Amino acid sequence: MAHTSDSPRACELPDEDATVALAQRLADLVCGRLPAIASAGGRIHLRGELGAGKTSLARALLRASGVTGRIKSPSYALLESYNVSNLQFYHFDFYRFSDAHEWRDAGFGELLDAQAVVLIEWPEQAGTRLPPPDLDIFLEYAGTGRRAWLNARSEKGQRWLTYLNPPHP
Ligand SMILES: Nc1ncnc2c1ncn2[C@@H]1O[C@H](COP(=O)(O)OP(=O)(O)OP(=O)(O)O)[C@@H](O)[C@H]1O
Ligand SMILES: [Mg+2]
Repeated sequence: MAHTSDSPRACELPDEDATVALAQRLADLVCGRLPAIASAGGRIHLRGELGAGKTSLARALLRASGVTGRIKSPSYALLESYNVSNLQFYHFDFYRFSDAHEWRDAGFGELLDAQAVVLIEWPEQAGTRLPPPDLDIFLEYAGTGRRAWLNARSEKGQRWLTYLNPPHP
């Protein structure tokens, strides 16, 4: 794949504050708050075993994007959606996904095409239905904290990584 970066970037997340800090920077990107990357929207896959911190990261990103009120894990409903200042946010969790009809009937495919912020936990459970994301985040346990591996899968994702991890002068 043309835009797949061969070397994922590691981001140490020793505690939940570090996860929130990463989420805040991602929120700036997906909300189009940075002059350099002004187009809002984008798709992020969140992978990693149970409890690795996928929902924590998604929740902090949604909060930093301006979502107020309760942010539920979509582990039962498959999808929770939000709207902030005319930007649509879709938070999926495909852990329990099994039914191909459900996919079609729910119109998930159309949501993925929209100009929106799409966060997907357990994307591997959706089989081949999903297009590649802009950014793939793999979370793993690291001592009492976590480590995130960030991998760009599109040109937009590459620009995000440049912002998140600027090359040292
Ligand atoms: N950087 C971190 N360091 C330590 N603990 C963390 C960190 N980030 C999140 N946690 C904690 O780890 C747990 C992660 O739970 P979370 O529901 O986010 O996992 P998940 O990957 O979504 O799991 P699932 O696959 O079941 O949906 C929470 O208890 C959270 O407080
Ligand atoms: Mg989760």
